[in-house]
Amino acid sequence: MCGIVGGIVDSNIVPTLLQGLLRLEYRGYDSCGLSISGESGLRRLRSISRVKDLAENARDLKSRSGLAHVRWASHGRPTIANAHPHFSPTAGEPLISVVHNGIIENYIELRARLIASGVSFASETDTEVIAHLVADLYRGDLLSAVREAIASMRGSFAIAVMSSRDPDRVVGARAGSPLLVGRAAGKSGYLVASDVLALAGVAGEAAYLEEGDVFAFSRDDVFILSAEGKAVERHWFAVSSSVSTPELGPFQHFMQKEIFEQPNALADTIDGVQADLVTAQRGEWDFGDVDSVLLLACGTSFHAAKIAAQWIETHCGIVANAEIASEYKYRVSVPGPNRLVVTVSQSGETIDTLTALRHAKRLGMTRSIAICNVGTSALVRESDRHLLTRAGLEVGVASTKAFTCQLAALFALTLAIGRAQGRLSEEMERDHLTQLQGLPDKVSAALALEPTIISWAQALQRREHVLFLGRGIHYAVAMEGALKMKEVSYIHADAYPAGELKHGPLALVTPEVPIVATAPNDELFEKLYSNLQEVRARRGFVYLLVDSDLSLESDDDLRILPVPLQRGPLAAILHTIPLQLLAYHIACLRQTDVDKPRNLAKSLTVE
Ligand code: AGP
Repeated sequence: MCGIVGGIVDSNIVPTLLQGLLRLEYRGYDSCGLSISGESGLRRLRSISRVKDLAENARDLKSRSGLAHVRWASHGRPTIANAHPHFSPTAGEPLISVVHNGIIENYIELRARLIASGVSFASETDTEVIAHLVADLYRGDLLSAVREAIASMRGSFAIAVMSSRDPDRVVGARAGSPLLVGRAAGKSGYLVASDVLALAGVAGEAAYLEEGDVFAFSRDDVFILSAEGKAVERHWFAVSSSVSTPELGPFQHFMQKEIFEQPNALADTIDGVQADLVTAQRGEWDFGDVDSVLLLACGTSFHAAKIAAQWIETHCGIVANAEIASEYKYRVSVPGPNRLVVTVSQSGETIDTLTALRHAKRLGMTRSIAICNVGTSALVRESDRHLLTRAGLEVGVASTKAFTCQLAALFALTLAIGRAQGRLSEEMERDHLTQLQGLPDKVSAALALEPTIISWAQALQRREHVLFLGRGIHYAVAMEGALKMKEVSYIHADAYPAGELKHGPLALVTPEVPIVATAPNDELFEKLYSNLQEVRARRGFVYLLVDSDLSLESDDDLRILPVPLQRGPLAAILHTIPLQLLAYHIACLRQTDVDKPRNLAKSLTVE
């Protein structure tokens, strides 16, 4: 969360800072800001609007050195006062400017200590303590002051710091949040960023800092100190000279584009994952002695993991549990030496998932596979093995194509484990693979349901609450439908296993609280349909996704949408498509910021 870019170059750095912020906006868009150093000291510009707005106001700014930041608010509301960079002191000439990603966990204690010593604060952020700590410790050497300040900070952070007294120096540190330094391309100068994306085209090469590293650079030189305080070299790699800017094409939003990209994304993922699994099994991947599977993920990826856990138990005959990563690492759990840990993540940078994996490893579970959409991500780097989804860049904060591709990859993995466990015959595996390969065409057919979904969206757009129901793996599909609805349309939505309704949530049902249910034509259909009759008997209105081979008619209080037929486990993917479209079209009707919903960010790198 949040994004950092900064540096010292031999021309005006402001366009580089602004371009970097634009590319980092996916990490947070609550506010943004930059500080530059000039003859009259440090100057700063901040905005609680988007980077475009900051750029408008920064047109006349010029400097060779500066720091910039996009913020996802954690401590303190998205106000100008809370936007980075933070300065110290708060009155008079600023001495120190700081940008920060992550969280300083002991900031309350540090803040109290600083206030007691006479420091006044201008913001509610944890970041501001860093600025005052460094200012307090500054005796003419910024590097020493930063190192001393860090020694008293607890938490996970990446920081970059400048001082008005030494405008030709940037000092920074990494402790739990990614940070890299770059050499300016074709000219003198150095840069810092929290994501290599911000450096494309401006840095010729870059090096990732390692945990505990502190760096200092001037226009001509850079050096890195390890956590032990020793001068170290880190691996420098070439930075791409350009970034391809994702195009919207004929679509209104990236979310819509990404929903419609699913047939191709699925086809690429299915081909790629199958090939990877074949190669892997010829080599050293052996699932024969795996006795259980633990799936770790967050948000949408957790829903994919939850579906996969049921697939694995059904097709592999071994225990499989999906756990919310942020919960797993803080509970006492029983490790299993032969348990396979499967992490699921679009970005591969979600700190909750990463730390859950590290926790599992500490417990002795060393066999891990990451299902991930980003091959260079931390999750892939830290996992024993990985299977990449080939969804392509996902821009919309609401994950759509990444989810269905995760499911496709997890299904292929399920089949590989099932075969190795001797639970699936070659013929059964072949049959499932044929179904999997036929999926992209059926997803295209499901996308053609858009006009009906638009009519549902028109009917639902003014509701403030919607309940989603499903049974079996379709409970997780309902959870995903509810999450999409909340994220982009801001309608309160909750999902329940349909059988649970009568145990409490039925009390919520009124004509104002509609139900959306996903009901494939499987062994649970009749049970679910009975649950829906209980809703209709209480004047609830039902929107029902069914398989196209069921002959059900819409009624006054029941709208039926037949979904292209896909028997068995993969029906979960087909039923997801209309729910994504529903959330999207309601969001459009409610005129929300579809691709950047309020309060959210695409990549969540704080706990
Ligand atoms: C999905 O729409 C969300 N924006 C969010 O729940 C996301 O799936 C979650 O944060 C996990 O992200 P990851 O897949 O990148 O790990």
